[in-house]
Amino acid sequence: MKRIFEVVIIVVMVFIYSDIGYAQVDGLKDGGPKYLYVTPLKKSPLHMPYDEDMKCVDCHKWDGIDAYTSATMSLVKSEKGRLPKSEIKRAILETLKGRGNYREMYVLATAFNNKPLATCMEYTLDPKSFIFYASSEKQGEKLFHLAVNSDVSIVYVKFRNDLDYFKDPIGVQIVGKAEQLKLGDSGFEEAFDICLSTVIMPEGMTLTPEFRKVLQKNQLVTKITPKRIIITHHKFRSAGHHFKQIWEADDNR
Ligand code: HEC
Repeated sequence: MKRIFEVVIIVVMVFIYSDIGYAQVDGLKDGGPKYLYVTPLKKSPLHMPYDEDMKCVDCHKWDGIDAYTSATMSLVKSEKGRLPKSEIKRAILETLKGRGNYREMYVLATAFNNKPLATCMEYTLDPKSFIFYASSEKQGEKLFHLAVNSDVSIVYVKFRNDLDYFKDPIGVQIVGKAEQLKLGDSGFEEAFDICLSTVIMPEGMTLTPEFRKVLQKNQLVTKITPKRIIITHHKFRSAGHHFKQIWEADDNR
């Protein structure tokens, strides 16, 4: 009898520990902690528009999918408030055009063994292919991250001199796949050209063919092909659309 009792205790302990273990590995099991969710009792007058036939719980619940099922992604469930894909793309290009050459400053987020790293980095967007390019000196920490994990996110935020970001923020969040191109790789020369032709050279420095060759050897190009781009722009909200518009890549990009 005592023996059976011991076995039961051990089995119960194993269940308890394995459950704790599972919860630690998969922190978002069953949608994660309740406090992450909006309690949809009363929405504010600033709430984004959505289709009349939708219920609050259509968006404010766990869908059992993954981190993609966030508040922002719930917006794709509503036709109302969404702009056509071509218009979203146009707004993204307009926001990221920089001085007209599509070069702008971003923050790149990478992850190495589950440890994230955020790095400021200038990217040039090729408006035709909708692909981002950046060149950087070899041996930077981010390059090691990218070499083992090609899943990246970059973000752009429009700087405001008055720092009033609450009122009219403009930002673009990109999720995609990164590729590292080095001298000799196919596509390197074209990608390097995109980066170099848009750089503002420091005064007194000229880009001679020799200097160019040195740079090509010392630098790597990071190419980012976006899978999803979310643009937040106050002009969408004031026109009665969703504050955030989501562009997702498909076969035709
Ligand atoms: C189409 C999806 C969708 C539906 C339907 C929806 N919401 Fe929301 N709701 C959102 C999103 C997305 C946010 C996050 C807003 C943000 O990021 O600014 C949000 C935010 C909220 C918030 C917190 C911020 C705020 O605006 O007050 C509350 C409260 C809320 N919703 C209540 C409701 C209620 C109540 C209903 C039903 C009457 C409802 N929602 C229906 C998508 C939805």
